[in-house]
Amino acid sequence: MRKQIVVANWKMNNSPTQSSQLCSLILSKMRPTDKEVIIAPSYLYLNSVVATTQNSIIKVAAQNCHQEISGAYTGEVSASMLADLGLDYVILGHSERRYYYGEDNSLLAKKVSSALSQGLKVIYCCGETLDQRISGAHLDRITKQLTEGLFHLPAKAMKNIVIGYEPIWAVGTGITATSAQAQEMHAHIRSALSDKYGADVAHDTSILYGGSCTPSNAKELFAQKDVDGGLIGGASLNADDFLAIVNA
Ligand code: PGA
Repeated sequence: MRKQIVVANWKMNNSPTQSSQLCSLILSKMRPTDKEVIIAPSYLYLNSVVATTQNSIIKVAAQNCHQEISGAYTGEVSASMLADLGLDYVILGHSERRYYYGEDNSLLAKKVSSALSQGLKVIYCCGETLDQRISGAHLDRITKQLTEGLFHLPAKAMKNIVIGYEPIWAVGTGITATSAQAQEMHAHIRSALSDKYGADVAHDTSILYGGSCTPSNAKELFAQKDVDGGLIGGASLNADDFLAIVNA
């Protein structure tokens, strides 16, 4: 049975104090829930968020990792370092990583394998540009991102994969995909999973929506049959907004 998951992607935001305050606030205000709640702070605050959330239901994710386990890669952080910190997840393939840092599907395939080899679960993101959607290429674009970045994995690895669908035109723009657009794409992703791995894997894989998800639109988005939760950027920087989305 797939899980319902909400991820707070703090991106490159918050000071050390703000990070620990936000984390403590989320913990203290969170009602008991059967959803999985994940916080993805900057690398710098991973340690303190792991410490603060220990023995709680909150899990911690990194926002990226390097494809190699160790070596002369100045400024980089490996999956083994993240696993040593006690993290559960790493986000890979976020549209901002793809766009600003030129991360392509073949690099992401290596990162995915590296993360899984260290026992991390992966939140693999995919999404299309506005041009691709307008030209009708959006479904194919997502299939390509899945095929090239993820479908090298054997079926048994898929239990450690969560997929994040993030239409690039909706990320940080205040424009949200309609629930029908989200449902169409999530169903498309599930069908691609089914074609590749069979119906059971497709059924059991959580597919999250990301892109200007807020307390006011989360309920409708999450009510869609194939939407299993959200990747929340801007609205995750406020504890009340984030928790309203978790409760949605
Ligand atoms: P946003 O970001 O909620 O600010 O649009 C979503 C994401 O990038 O995870």
